[in-house]
Amino acid sequence: MSISVQGITKSFANKGNKKEKKLVLKDISFEVHDGEFVSLVGPSGCGKTTTLTIIAGFQKADAGQVLVDGQPVSKPGPDRAFVFQNYALLPWLKVGDNIMYPMKKQGIPKAERERRLKELLSIAQMESSANSYIYELSGGMKQRVAILRGLACDPKILLMDEPLGAVDFQMRKLLQIQMEAMLQQRKVTTMMVTHDVDEAIYFSDRVVVMSRDHGRIMADVKIDLPRPRDRTSEQYHAYMDQLTEILKRALNGEVFNDEDKDLMKFIENVETGVDLTEGRTILGEDKPTSAPKKERKNFLRNIHQCHDKNCKL
Ligand SMILES: Nc1ncnc2c1ncn2[C@@H]1O[C@H](COP(=O)(O)OP(=O)(O)OP(=O)(O)O)[C@@H](O)[C@H]1O
Ligand SMILES: [Mg+2]
Repeated sequence: MSISVQGITKSFANKGNKKEKKLVLKDISFEVHDGEFVSLVGPSGCGKTTTLTIIAGFQKADAGQVLVDGQPVSKPGPDRAFVFQNYALLPWLKVGDNIMYPMKKQGIPKAERERRLKELLSIAQMESSANSYIYELSGGMKQRVAILRGLACDPKILLMDEPLGAVDFQMRKLLQIQMEAMLQQRKVTTMMVTHDVDEAIYFSDRVVVMSRDHGRIMADVKIDLPRPRDRTSEQYHAYMDQLTEILKRALNGEVFNDEDKDLMKFIENVETGVDLTEGRTILGEDKPTSAPKKERKNFLRNIHQCHDKNCKL
């Protein structure tokens, strides 16, 4: 399935003064072709998540439209799966039940649900975890479950918002290899938001760079490399240099928060040739708790933070 983003504009009410509007996206257009993997990168706050949630149908653009296979998007649908940065798993259910939940919602018969679950767990080498509770898993395992749940209903489009943002550096590299193998088997049209240029090049057919200038698209770079990607190749490094330079321009020396700092550090490392296998911060692990009520409350709060007001999961 293809995605066509046509001139979308989006404002939010200004928190300080509700009468004032803050223009986040202004006349943004791009295309994602059937089966393509496209990454969206750019400084923090430039509107990446907003763009992705409009494509998902979680919120509406003020002007412009999104077409999926030529049809305008007006609400979320089973053709588009969304993978959240903070997993958005149901902590009171086991791994298997989490993955089967959207299939149940869609009315897929039990035997078929179980067949698909087995297949998905085997792709991610998680067969032995089907009966584990979410709180018993590591961050990397939770992330894999979130991606498997995204794939459960066989979506035509996979939308992922920093899917590996909360796992540590080593696990991130491992998950990149596993995810790439999983997605190559499925050939789902995919859009991923990431802060990590290396990750964008590793996965993508194209990398779209947004700027803080109301999301203006600064570059749309085709990554013409064979798969799986060889991080040591000269061409790979040439793409790293090219995209790093564009991102530096997008940041324009303005570093507002930790994500920007991470990006700036990455740029410095590329420029100074520092070993990029240095660790990154682990952004927080869920604490185990056996109180379902509290878990539900936390879960709903997380969902709310994801602007996902309509998502039924
Ligand atoms: N529901 C909302 N209400 C008000 N402002 C919002 C809302 N959602 C997003 N914004 C604002 O829109 C801008 C873009 O937000 P968005 O989350 O799309 O950025 P982003 O590029 O995903 O940033 P990051 O890299 O930090 O995740 C930010 O200034 C943000 O504060
Ligand atoms: Mg975001």
